[in-house]
Amino acid sequence: MPPLWGQLPKGVTADAKGFVGANACRTCHPDVNRDFFRNAHYQGQVASCEGCHGPGQAHIEGRGDKTKIFAFSQKTARQTLDRCLTCHSKSMARSNIRRSEHTQADVVCASCHSIHKPATPKFLLAKKQIDLCGSCHAPVRAQFSMPFKHRVNEGVMQCSDCHNPHGTDAPTWRMGQRPRLVAQAQGNEEACLKCHVEKRGPFVFEHAGVRIDGCETCHSPHGSMNARLLKRPVTFTLCLECHNGAGNFGRQGDGIAVQSPSHNMADPRYQNCTTCHVKIHGSNGDRLFRR
Ligand code: HEC
Ligand code: HEC
Ligand code: HEC
Ligand code: HEC
Ligand code: HEC
Ligand code: HEC
Ligand code: HEC
Ligand code: HEC
Ligand code: HEC
Ligand code: HEC
Repeated sequence: MPPLWGQLPKGVTADAKGFVGANACRTCHPDVNRDFFRNAHYQGQVASCEGCHGPGQAHIEGRGDKTKIFAFSQKTARQTLDRCLTCHSKSMARSNIRRSEHTQADVVCASCHSIHKPATPKFLLAKKQIDLCGSCHAPVRAQFSMPFKHRVNEGVMQCSDCHNPHGTDAPTWRMGQRPRLVAQAQGNEEACLKCHVEKRGPFVFEHAGVRIDGCETCHSPHGSMNARLLKRPVTFTLCLECHNGAGNFGRQGDGIAVQSPSHNMADPRYQNCTTCHVKIHGSNGDRLFRR
């Protein structure tokens, strides 16, 4: 018997009362049953339906009494979450799902997954991912139509390449700001680095602005009006947000707001900082990132 039980909710054992097996559901719910053997949740006769909906005997004896079965349509977001997590808490543990922005906003498993009518067989998503996320995050979706963008609308990459919709295991992302469900690649580093590996370093000369503040200090991760997804149309305005003479930026601790022969702001040639400081993400040869 045990193999047929697959993975039942915690506390349910093979001798539990009231379980009748999937065959008993077939007569009245033929449409739901028909293709279920293809579902990742097909766990043999017993656990298949009742693993989620609970024991079915009373429901059948009541001729389909909705109150005598776990009917998701009658449940709160929290109850749905708890039910799915009876089996999935282990795989979701790293994402801190109970604390995620989605859970906090009552967006839970069945808002994104459809067990019986999935649009994608893989991961049982209710809609294709871009349409799913886009249906609630329309402004973000629009950012992927800007002149410079990551090609998410085109299907080259997906929201989940950078985000974990279930949550994030690093609540301290960006020094205590909201985590924004940003996925972490290995070793807690930014997801960007799994594709843009050449920016990973470590470099002999790190640019603290990149290493500490992170990619989205200078880049808009979704899309931008500016080439290279930059946050500002003119590069030097970006640099001067930090290198403004205040604080301790630059060798003399005076930034480059102080004019010098090499940094004459009146000369347009000097305004494109990265024509000279080419290795702006870090360098192995020059502490001023010029090669
Ligand atoms: C992984 C959990 C899970 C399993 C296993 C499961 N269901 Fe469901 N079922 C749901 C959820 C969640 C809903 C709510 C609708 C939705 O989100 O797709 C649902 C809805 C239903 C409904 C309402 C009609 C509908 O299509 O929305 C029926 C009837 C039903 N399930 C019967 C079954 C039967 C019969 C089986 C076994 C063949 C089964 N379920 C297996 C989770 C599950
Ligand atoms: C005798 C026929 C019959 C059998 C057998 C039966 N059901 Fe139902 N079931 C119904 C009817 C009728 C409804 C609709 C009740 C309503 O809408 O008030 C229903 C509703 C449900 C719902 C609630 C759908 C919702 O609105 O969210 C679930 C879940 C469900 N059944 C699961 C099962 C499972 C699992 C089995 C097998 C263990 C099963 N049923 C066996 C007749 C049956
Ligand atoms: C009775 C245990 C159980 C319950 C309850 C359960 N699942 Fe699953 N789920 C599984 C098993 C087993 C698998 C297949 C193995 C795996 O991928 O971990 C699975 C796989 C999945 C997958 C991945 C499918 C794929 O293509 O890789 C999704 C998505 C999923 N479940 C969502 C849900 C949702 C949503 C709920 C609540 C409505 C739920 N599960 C409730 C046991 C369960
Ligand atoms: C905001 C939407 C959203 C919510 C809420 C959500 N998921 Fe997912 N889930 C996804 C997407 C999108 C994927 C596919 C990710 C990918 O393509 O890598 C996925 C993948 C999965 C997978 C397979 C891959 C993996 O990460 O293990 C499982 C299992 C799963 N979800 C279960 C759940 C369960 C259980 C819940 C509720 C506790 C839940 N999901 C809530 C969107 C969501
Ligand atoms: C290239 C990586 C990447 C992709 C792809 C991506 N995001 Fe983001 N997203 C981020 C990063 C990084 C942040 C945090 C930005 C910050 O804190 O300044 C973010 C922030 C967000 C935010 C919160 C801030 C805001 O702009 O509203 C939402 C919502 C969001 N993303 C949704 C999505 C959706 C939906 C998709 C897919 C349509 C998506 N993202 C695709 C990297 C990405
Ligand atoms: C059912 C609607 C819904 C769906 C579907 C949905 N979201 Fe959300 N999402 C929300 C709500 C509501 C919030 C919390 C409020 C807010 O900050 O916008 C949120 C928050 C977020 C945040 C954090 C925003 C922040 O400011 O910290 C990100 C990132 C995000 N969603 C990405 C995604 C991705 C990626 C998908 C697709 C896998 C997705 N969402 C699917 C409704 C949804
Ligand atoms: C899944 C892989 C992937 C991830 C993750 C990713 N990118 Fe990209 N990125 C690309 C690809 C591929 C391109 C090439 C442009 C295209 O697809 O149109 C690109 C283009 C860019 C560009 C423009 C390059 C140019 O020459 O114009 C910048 C800047 C960029 N990404 C920054 C980021 C940042 C910042 C993050 C993290 C928030 C990130 N990327 C995450 C794959 C990725
Ligand atoms: C201090 C600002 C700043 C930060 C932080 C930053 N970048 Fe950039 N990035 C730039 C500038 C400026 C350019 C354009 C360089 C040029 O015009 O030659 C650029 C260009 C790029 C390009 C396209 C050209 C190339 O060099 O491949 C990619 C890809 C890129 N950045 C990825 C990233 C990633 C990934 C991160 C995070 C690890 C990051 N950037 C952090 C300023 C920054
Ligand atoms: C988010 C803030 C920030 C931004 C934006 C930024 N930087 Fe930096 N940069 C720093 C910090 C912090 C240091 C380290 C200063 C130190 O060690 O004294 C640094 C160091 C440097 C250095 C080396 C100076 C030295 O004395 O070691 C150069 C050159 C430099 N940045 C150029 C640029 C350029 C060009 C841009 C625009 C593309 C830029 N930075 C954008 C924060 C930033
Ligand atoms: C024509 C090439 C060139 C351009 C353009 C240029 N720099 Fe430099 N930068 C240098 C050289 C050479 C040095 C080192 C010698 C020196 O300090 O004069 C330097 C030094 C620096 C330093 C180290 C601090 C210091 O005072 O020694 C910082 C920070 C810096 N540059 C930032 C910038 C920023 C920001 C821009 C754009 C507004 C920029 N640079 C444009 C060539 C350039």
